[in-house]
Amino acid sequence: MFKEKLNGMEGLTFNDVLILPARSEVEPNQISLNTRFSKNISLNIPIVSSPMDTVTEFKMAISMARSGGIGILHRNMSIEKQVKMVYAIKRSDEFIIRKTITASPDDSVSHILSLMRSENVSGIPILKDNKLLGIVSTRDIRGISGSKLASEVMTKDVIAAKENVTVDEAFKKMYDSKIERLPIINDKNEFIGMVTMHNIMEREKYTDAVRDIEGRLLVGAAIGPYDLERAKKLDAESVDIIVIDCAHAHNMNVIKSAKNIKDNISADLVVGNIATAEAAEDLVDFADGLRVGIGPGSICTTRIVTGVGVPQLTAIATVSDLAKRYNVPVIADGGIRFSGDIAKAIAAGADTVMLGNLLAGTKESPGREVTIKGRLYKSYRGMGSLGVMGGTDRYSQVGQTKFVPEGVEGVVPFKGSVEDVLFQLTGGLKSAMGYVGAKDIESMQRKARFMKITNNSILESHPHDILITDEAPNYPLY
Ligand code: XMP
Repeated sequence: MFKEKLNGMEGLTFNDVLILPARSEVEPNQISLNTRFSKNISLNIPIVSSPMDTVTEFKMAISMARSGGIGILHRNMSIEKQVKMVYAIKRSDEFIIRKTITASPDDSVSHILSLMRSENVSGIPILKDNKLLGIVSTRDIRGISGSKLASEVMTKDVIAAKENVTVDEAFKKMYDSKIERLPIINDKNEFIGMVTMHNIMEREKYTDAVRDIEGRLLVGAAIGPYDLERAKKLDAESVDIIVIDCAHAHNMNVIKSAKNIKDNISADLVVGNIATAEAAEDLVDFADGLRVGIGPGSICTTRIVTGVGVPQLTAIATVSDLAKRYNVPVIADGGIRFSGDIAKAIAAGADTVMLGNLLAGTKESPGREVTIKGRLYKSYRGMGSLGVMGGTDRYSQVGQTKFVPEGVEGVVPFKGSVEDVLFQLTGGLKSAMGYVGAKDIESMQRKARFMKITNNSILESHPHDILITDEAPNYPLY
């Protein structure tokens, strides 16, 4: 009986294997890390920040998208607050700023001046019935009486562009005319928005950034499995991905609700978490991505408290094998400690990895900073820890007064900026792909071979027989 229950199954995780080096003609600088997070969302690096309240809010999501990955906003906040965050991220480096401060021709110079000060802008378009009549910039009102009207002081010969203007065309137009702000209008001279030189220069810095068709940064948001209202409101705010955030998505009530949510939104829907092929089989016909991991996370106690879970590398490989047949991308969520684990997750079939711990220590995470014995740390906690439970229904215990936690709360060392952390992680991954001879993520998934290793091999893999005196950026000392 026990033998049948065991069914010859063996569970492996990152530490149990190494990737075999193979004949290679690939140099790390020729490698593409382009991948898919979900059916319709592509990324430039295969790294995603976890929807945890000590990991992903506004700043993390912006940095992740600018670096080519994506942030998934956590859901331990009101719907209004989460929607506002999506709004702010979408506006953060948009090319055409659509919600612009405007004034009417009858407004006084003093009113315009106060608008400029309060909104920190140096030029205000003047509209009548939404038609662009002119623009007032600081130069136009310098030394001018506050009682004069906008119509008297505005520049009337406005240099403007049409909505389909490209970044390069807008740049050239502003550069040639020595202006900082370019109003955008439609064929009827109706005002659409504004392009600024400052915004263009900001965008140029992020060559790997991932953006939607309107040029805005991509962002995802987590929702509870039954929260249709939240899903609809996020969708209306143009969120790119909605992630059903649930400890056990192979629950038929969750699946029924997720299908209904999918029918009511236009954003991609990622569903999780799961860890078996059977669960994947029940989700692939409607999910745009599968989030894999039951209990591998650094703050998770699910496996200890419940005895349930699947070692993460086996979970990734099992789900990926099935999901590939249906063209559904897989997110390896939890348990990643080093860049080598990212390489192993992808080699096992994952399309992206989701990180909590490795990003919680960055300056962009919302966690509290704490100094312990002269060293800086940031707080990091499980979404099933006591401090969070009651706030979300990830572990189905909302509304109760006593909880059975499935996570812990603590701190992780401060690590600097997301950009620096991602540089190390993607650098390690590219080196791994060079060892395998894989020029892109798809060939890494296809070509990589594993070898099972012993505990002695793990000891050999880590630095040994040395007292480390200088901490390496990709090998933290605790
Ligand atoms: P890492 O290892 O990156 O894992 O810290 C982050 C992932 O862990 C999951 N998570 C939890 N799992 N109890 C759990 O069993 C929890 O309290 C908990 N909080 C987060 C989640 O999938 C996250 O992305």
